[in-house]
Amino acid sequence: MKNEQASSTALLIATSLVLMHSDPEYAGLVSAKTADLSASFIEARWSQSPRSLLNLVRRRWFQRAASLIERLTIPGILRHYALRKRCLAQLTREALENDIEQIVVLGAGFDPLALELHDEFRRAQFWEIDHPATQQYKSRAAGNIYMRRFHFVAADLTDDQIDANLLASGGFDSNQRTFWIAEGLLMYFPETAVSNLLSSVAATSARGSRFVFTFMERQPDGRIRFQRQTRLVDWWLRQRRELFAWGIERGHMAEFVRPWKVVRIFDEVDLRALDLSSNDFPLAAGELICLAEIS
Ligand SMILES: C[S@@+](CC[C@H](N)C(=O)[O-])C[C@H]1O[C@@H](n2cnc3c(N)ncnc32)[C@H](O)[C@@H]1O
Repeated sequence: MKNEQASSTALLIATSLVLMHSDPEYAGLVSAKTADLSASFIEARWSQSPRSLLNLVRRRWFQRAASLIERLTIPGILRHYALRKRCLAQLTREALENDIEQIVVLGAGFDPLALELHDEFRRAQFWEIDHPATQQYKSRAAGNIYMRRFHFVAADLTDDQIDANLLASGGFDSNQRTFWIAEGLLMYFPETAVSNLLSSVAATSARGSRFVFTFMERQPDGRIRFQRQTRLVDWWLRQRRELFAWGIERGHMAEFVRPWKVVRIFDEVDLRALDLSSNDFPLAAGELICLAEIS
């Protein structure tokens, strides 16, 4: 993944959230607050651009074009983004309600979750780690109002060790339980980097800490991709240098994540159950969510 410019996939996901909020086909899936925060990050990124991307995504013709592109690339990927975020938001909220007061988001990109929860859970501390090239736009959009219990940490997660020193701003305490989030991140890392990251996060976590991360399920033919992903996507990801590098079969996860203990793995069936609007919508399959705990 390139680290000298803002992540294209982070931008794509944020744009998808704004689009889903304005498109009646996805009514109720993305809240106004999520869409507004996502829009503010996109605006910070494109402030030099003469054309407003945000005006475009709210136009009906653009939504139809996006729907066509979705069908030609990964059918159901937009709904997958929204439902994966809904699942992670529920798990994070549960952790906060169970008095976990340190939330660390790895590779946060333009995801608005931590900023949303920061307003609501006033005793908790939040950290977001990302490449500076992506993070600068988000911190610019967030402004100073968030800084007291919200900490932006610029780092390369494949090079920099995750430990209490990296999170020293805001007084991270590795004796307190922490909820760690890595959404749409680990599939871009080589397996050894994923394994090192799981170990260093475990070493920085008190007993009862939890880690939720998404991962690509390796397909029976060995490929690492969404089940109905077309070659067009392979080409685009290759151009952006954001190709998936790591995938694993769900049956091998318990062994791979040790000393973490798998609590639950969520797949497309679980995600579908989070959307009661209809039961026959296309939903991308292949990226799963793992919730793990240190006991
Ligand atoms: C696909 S985006 C996902 C963003 C967000 N988590 C979401 O799901 O909406 C991947 C994010 O991980 C960040 N990232 C990728 N490799 C990284 C690395 N080695 N160190 C820090 N951040 C990284 C990118 O900058 C980007 O923001």
